[in-house]
Amino acid sequence: MPPPVDYRDLPYLWQAGYFAMEPDKLKSRLRSSKLMLGPVEETIQHFCSQENPPPIGFISFDLDYYSSTMAAFKIFAAAPRHLLPRIACYFDDMVGDIDWAYNDFTGELLAIREFNAANDDMKLAPVQGLRFYGSRLPRAWHEQIFVAQSVQASGLLPTDLRSDRVTPRGGVVLRRPREFLANRCPQDQANRLRMATHGHSVLTPAHVG
Ligand SMILES: C[S@@+](CC[C@H](N)C(=O)[O-])C[C@H]1O[C@@H](n2cnc3c(N)ncnc32)[C@H](O)[C@@H]1O
Repeated sequence: MPPPVDYRDLPYLWQAGYFAMEPDKLKSRLRSSKLMLGPVEETIQHFCSQENPPPIGFISFDLDYYSSTMAAFKIFAAAPRHLLPRIACYFDDMVGDIDWAYNDFTGELLAIREFNAANDDMKLAPVQGLRFYGSRLPRAWHEQIFVAQSVQASGLLPTDLRSDRVTPRGGVVLRRPREFLANRCPQDQANRLRMATHGHSVLTPAHVG
């Protein structure tokens, strides 16, 4: 761990040097993932431009500190083609007993509050009712799973697809495709729409005539 910046990093729990690791040993065990080492403030900056990942659908935040979590949230500023409209997020450090004393004014919970206050287009919210539906999940996860929701991408559904229909084969017929594409033609938006419709193919003007 790097040193905590201030009380918001919960220094009574974590200090510089915690969680030492053996990078080579770890790397040798990786089969389908890549280890990127370095301060998250730096590695996050160019992650998408360097790695060109497919749209991100899940993020596990386990950086412990408020400051590091805030830095990691820069991932949500990536180009829309790198982000699904709703990204499941796991936060490791927000559930515990009085020794941990997690609360809204420090750590990940504070980072989430500040992120939401500062961002109009992307919101982080707990998934409501997981305790009823997430019976296969460890119970603590019911409070640790959030959704990062792009307000703009979600807004596509009511504004652009309202009254449109889904074809028997799962395609979505745009009611005003030319207007839609004129307003939102960039590939990013087309990608978002495809994902916002849960994988239904989106018919373009050429398809609908
Ligand atoms: C509790 S460990 C979790 C590691 C891993 N998720 C695991 O379960 O093994 C927290 C990790 O966050 C890393 N970390 C915290 N702040 C960081 C920062 N600003 N930049 C890079 N890594 C950071 C620490 O070095 C540490 O490895």
